[in-house]
Amino acid sequence: MSDSKVRFADRIIDGKAFAEGLRERIGAAVSGIEAAHGLAPSLAVVLVGDDPASQIYVRNKGRAAEAAGIAAADHRLDAAISQEELLTLVASLNNDAMVHGILVQLPLPDQIDPAAVIDAIDPAKDVDGFHVVNVGRLASGQMSGPNAAMVPCTPLGCRMLLEDRLGDLTGLEAVVLGRSNIVGKPMAQLLTQANCTVTVAHSKTRDLPDVCRRADILVAAVGRPQMVQGDWIKPGAVVIDVGINRVPAPTGDDPDKMRLVGDVDFDAAIAVAGAITPVPGGVGPMTIACLLANTVTAACRQNGIDTPAW
Ligand code: GUN
Repeated sequence: MSDSKVRFADRIIDGKAFAEGLRERIGAAVSGIEAAHGLAPSLAVVLVGDDPASQIYVRNKGRAAEAAGIAAADHRLDAAISQEELLTLVASLNNDAMVHGILVQLPLPDQIDPAAVIDAIDPAKDVDGFHVVNVGRLASGQMSGPNAAMVPCTPLGCRMLLEDRLGDLTGLEAVVLGRSNIVGKPMAQLLTQANCTVTVAHSKTRDLPDVCRRADILVAAVGRPQMVQGDWIKPGAVVIDVGINRVPAPTGDDPDKMRLVGDVDFDAAIAVAGAITPVPGGVGPMTIACLLANTVTAACRQNGIDTPAW
C-alpha cells in the first residue's frame, strides 16, 4: 500500500466494501421477492466477438449476478454476426417474459451500429439505461412509478458513494469532467436532481484547472490517465475517479508489467481532497453492483412489485 494510502486512510472512499454491502442487500431483496412473489429476477448478457476485456467484464457480471441469486444467461455471438441477426436475438429477449434485464456488451464490431441495437432493447429491460427513452426519462426527472428511468450503472454508483460520504448534496458545487453518454451526461443529471450546481467540463473547457478548483464534488470521467492534478482540487473536496486506465509500470522482473490508474493523480489528490475513490477499488465495483440493482428494479417494475430502495 502506498504511503499516502496509509497516511490519509480515512479519506479513502472504499467502493469495494460499499459494493459488497450493496450486493448483500440485493441478494436479500432477491430472496424476499422470490419468497413473496415467486419471481426470480434474470439478466441476459449479450457478448459479440472475443475482445478479451469484454470477456472478463461479462464473466464478472455473470458471477456477480449468480452470487446475488439473479439468473444470468450469456449469449455469445460470433464477431462476424450481422446486425440483423443481433436484432433478432434482442427481439426474442424482449419477448421473453422470463428475461427482466438485457445488456449488450459494448463496444460492438464495426458492421453493427450500436445505437440501432440499444434502441431495439425494450426500455423496461434496458438495465444499462442507454436507450433514448431512459435518457429522456432521466433528463425529465421521471424517477418513480412504473415508467421511471433506468439509470446508467456507473453514475448511479457514484451518486450512492457521494451520498454515503456527504449525506444531502443540496447546494454543493459539482464539476463533472467528461461528457460521455455513459457517465458524464447522466452523472450531471443525477447531481442536478440532487440539488447540486453542476458544471460539465471537458477537454475543450477553458481554464480547466480553475473550473475544477471550484468543485465541492469533482467527478473525473475523461479516460486520460492521471490528468487531474493535486492543485486542480479544492481543499476538502470529494473526488470521484471514474477512470480505469492501464499504464506501463515496468519492474526489474517484469518489463511489460502494467497497472491501473484513474483519471486523477491519486497520491497528489489525496493530500488535498476531503475524500477520494481509489482505482482500483472505488467506482469499478459499484458499476457491477448497480447493474444487479437495476436488474432487480426492472424485474419488480415488470411485475407490478414495489421496487426496493437501495
Ligand atoms: N462496456 C464497458 N462498459 C460497459 C457498460 O457499462 N455497459 C455495456 N453494455 N457495455 C460496456
